Amino acid sequence: MTTERTRVAIVGAGPAGLVLSHLLAEEGIESVILDSRSREEIEGTIRAGILEQGAAELLATIGGTSRVHTTGERHEGIGLHFASPAGDGEAHRIDFQALTGRSVWLYPQHEVLIDLIAARLGAGQDLRFGTTVDRVEGVETDRPRVLGTTAEGEPFELEAEFVVGADGSRSAVRPAVTGPSREGGYFREYPFAWFGILCEAPPSSAELIYSNSPHGFALISQRSPTVQRMYFQCDPHDDPHAISEAEIWDVLQSRTPGVELREGPIFQRDVLRFRSFVSHELRRGRAALVGDAAHTVPPTGAKGMNLAIADVILLSRALSELLLGANGGSERGIDAYAAAASQRIWNAQHFSWWMTSLLHLTPDASDFDRLRQLGELRSVVESEAGSRYLAEAYTGWPYRTEL
Ligand code: DHB
Repeated sequence: MTTERTRVAIVGAGPAGLVLSHLLAEEGIESVILDSRSREEIEGTIRAGILEQGAAELLATIGGTSRVHTTGERHEGIGLHFASPAGDGEAHRIDFQALTGRSVWLYPQHEVLIDLIAARLGAGQDLRFGTTVDRVEGVETDRPRVLGTTAEGEPFELEAEFVVGADGSRSAVRPAVTGPSREGGYFREYPFAWFGILCEAPPSSAELIYSNSPHGFALISQRSPTVQRMYFQCDPHDDPHAISEAEIWDVLQSRTPGVELREGPIFQRDVLRFRSFVSHELRRGRAALVGDAAHTVPPTGAKGMNLAIADVILLSRALSELLLGANGGSERGIDAYAAAASQRIWNAQHFSWWMTSLLHLTPDASDFDRLRQLGELRSVVESEAGSRYLAEAYTGWPYRTEL
């Protein structure tokens, strides 16, 4: 067994881990990033595509990621469509610029990861793919340890001054943070999922369309002039390969009345689970959780990656205070991390739950539920205050940087 040392051990090379290593490096704090996946797997996994304005601005300052503003697309609003049971469709637009002066950027998460990995490796970051973490020990001491298996199949031990779990919803770091008595977290499951496709076709709409139709929800998103991303509400147990391309287009068309979808070959399909989760604990001693290791949101509103970036902005401040002794090596910032991060986490939990419940009906919904939901949709589009809440949350609240 070899024991190595670093200042911050970051488990997970997703957006949270990679951005954190960058922010720490800017402060002169060395870190090692470990990820069980290969670089190809990380760079090839399709995820959401929307960056809050603040997240896009931050990524553009990280060497190599200025592509977000050159190949990404700025979106100044979204379409919000809905129809009564009688089929009378209404198409509304939420104008982010007019309501908030902000926009979002359509730039797929795997492109963000391609950029960040290249930038971090270019800057000399120690980034180890294929490295499995089994557990974290000693978080109550000032020398916590990460134990696991290297890409070559050898056991390793990495000793650090702080360990960060940025390793997604099945985090290997989380048990060391929550402790056996508080395992798990605040949790909610939903009785539906999204069927997602990527297809080769021109865009059907210049902006995203969120459509609540009597047949169920659909979302028309984009990727590029030749590739489009679309989703429709389905059962969580649906097999993505048990339905033909023609049937997929029929479902999508029926759920977007008044929009003429441009069809093309479907080259990727997946079923996305819906769950809301916040870990009971976000930090214990010398370990903390960020991103999906700390919380999961349902996909509606695309908050996942954006929230991960907001977490690491706060955590990097706390770690600078702790490890650089800006305030005499103060624990004040790290002691404040969980409470400070929780505010945005729960704001985003509420927004993601609210967008989800505004746009989806559960399989057992009554006529009352359906008509009440239409009333809520009208309250959003007919009230400037209602529209503004959606626009503020979607484009992202200002970052909190003080701990
Ligand atoms: C996308 C995903 C989302 O969850 C969303 O709300 C908007 C867009 C996307 O993948 O393009």
